[in-house]
Amino acid sequence: MIESEALLKFLKDRRSIRSFQDKVISEKEIEMILEAGRWTPSASNRQPWEFIVIQNKEILEKISKTAFYGKFMKGIPIAIAIVAKIKTSPKWYLIDTSLVSMNMILMAWSLGIGTCWIGAMNREKAKEILGLGDKDHLLTVLPFGYIKGEIPEPTSRKPLNKIVKYV
Ligand SMILES: Cc1cc2nc3c(=O)[nH]c(=O)nc-3n(C[C@H](O)[C@H](O)[C@H](O)COP(=O)(O)O)c2cc1C
Repeated sequence: MIESEALLKFLKDRRSIRSFQDKVISEKEIEMILEAGRWTPSASNRQPWEFIVIQNKEILEKISKTAFYGKFMKGIPIAIAIVAKIKTSPKWYLIDTSLVSMNMILMAWSLGIGTCWIGAMNREKAKEILGLGDKDHLLTVLPFGYIKGEIPEPTSRKPLNKIVKYV
């Protein structure tokens, strides 16, 4: 078990990172990120996902161009596409794979590796590049890299008294 105050601090300290060093990430670290994804909970434990590790420079370049605000993805050393298998869990595939994404993001942060969820992208184009079909939903492509420059300031959060109700 992890100490809870330390966990809360860790969660609060995490940032989306949009500036990366062009430095290779070790296989061990990639495996840790993938393992964090693999151990994600899912509805009825269906695990409706596949992960595509993208290291090929040409494919990375093409994928980065599918992100609407993804200029920061240029030159990244690695990205992982999180693919939802729609038929495996038609009702829950979006939720299950979103949790995968979060697990991977948090594992990366613990390793000093930054990432940012890419939501705004030309999914159809990215799917074509990755050879995905109709039964696949491309949730996101997470770029991973060591953080370049300063860690960004925290983004704001609504205060608890605005979002919590006790009944
Ligand atoms: C579902 C989802 C989609 C997102 N899409 C994008 C995106 O397309 N481009 C981007 O730069 N950031 C994207 N983000 C990152 C958010 O902007 C970021 O998480 C938010 O501003 C809070 O900042 P923080 O992650 O540093 O706490 C996305 C985040 C989520 C959860």
